[in-house]
Amino acid sequence: MKVREIRMQDLKVDAFIDEQVAAIRQAVGDGLAVNALSGGVDSSVVTLLGHRALADRLKTYFIDNGLMREDEPQLIADIFARMEVKVEIINARKQFFAALKGVEDPEIKRDKGITQVFYKDVFAKLVKSCGAKVLLQGTNYTDVEETVAGIKRQHNILAQLGIDTEKAYGYKVIEPIIELRKPAIRCVAKALGLPEEIYSRPPFPGPALAARVIGEVTEERVALIRAATAIVEAELQDCVAFQYMAILHEDKVTGIRDGKRRFGHQIELRCWDSDDAVTAAPTSLPFELLRKIADRLTTELPGVVSVTYNIAAKPPSCIEAV
Ligand code: XMP
Repeated sequence: MKVREIRMQDLKVDAFIDEQVAAIRQAVGDGLAVNALSGGVDSSVVTLLGHRALADRLKTYFIDNGLMREDEPQLIADIFARMEVKVEIINARKQFFAALKGVEDPEIKRDKGITQVFYKDVFAKLVKSCGAKVLLQGTNYTDVEETVAGIKRQHNILAQLGIDTEKAYGYKVIEPIIELRKPAIRCVAKALGLPEEIYSRPPFPGPALAARVIGEVTEERVALIRAATAIVEAELQDCVAFQYMAILHEDKVTGIRDGKRRFGHQIELRCWDSDDAVTAAPTSLPFELLRKIADRLTTELPGVVSVTYNIAAKPPSCIEAV
């Protein structure tokens, strides 16, 4: 299925919102729909479009896959509660970690470890149990483009890979913002009245911290990258970059702890300037700030003995490491 892009300069925000609300109503008819909210700007926009269209006939779920940042599920549920949107948190941690066990290949990790569990195990059950026939999700134009080009499988691309979701999972998928890139989605978010903490949120990948762990994704390795992420995000929150992150490497390196060899972890720091994630350049961060982040990572996380900063551009680098 070919998707056309609505360019920023062609976007009429109010008309777009009205069209999408009408399209959701038409697709769902008198029935119920289920909505996948992750708290990023994309799925937040879809949540508000869906609620505008369907009110109580839309059930919004946040899937806690065990791969999110510290306290993220509750934080997002609380933000939406303030907008009178009820979000139910589903604990699916066991299913995701079981599927990720022993998987090192990045494409298999995205497909078998994330996509299949999300659509086949978790959402197929949720959709069936509430009698819905439709799932709403926030796929955007860049997700489609990268997957179709064979750069990497974005977790939410289905029809463009030839997957008939009704046959494969038992429900239809509606993607109201599939024609938009990030800057346009942020405009729609603002127009819908989403708070700034949502519409200006740095992007976060659907596979969550699994996209930032090179090699096997285990609970221990996710705990380490979660702690590193909290440090990096706290230190870079005032910098005007498109996105920033910590990556856990697979290889260990020799360091020193208590005067002895410590064969420890390497964390890679990434910070990107970009408009729409299609191309990106490393942000010119002050060296003192880089040193401060390295000091915090190596003192607060004793297993970490090395910190690097990625200075390659996208392409050939990618924003995420997996
Ligand atoms: P890459 O790593 O491909 O990332 O340069 C481009 C942008 O997309 C985000 N990203 C994803 N978003 N599902 C998503 O919804 C995914 O599977 C996914 N993978 C990467 C990434 O964070 C960046 O903003």
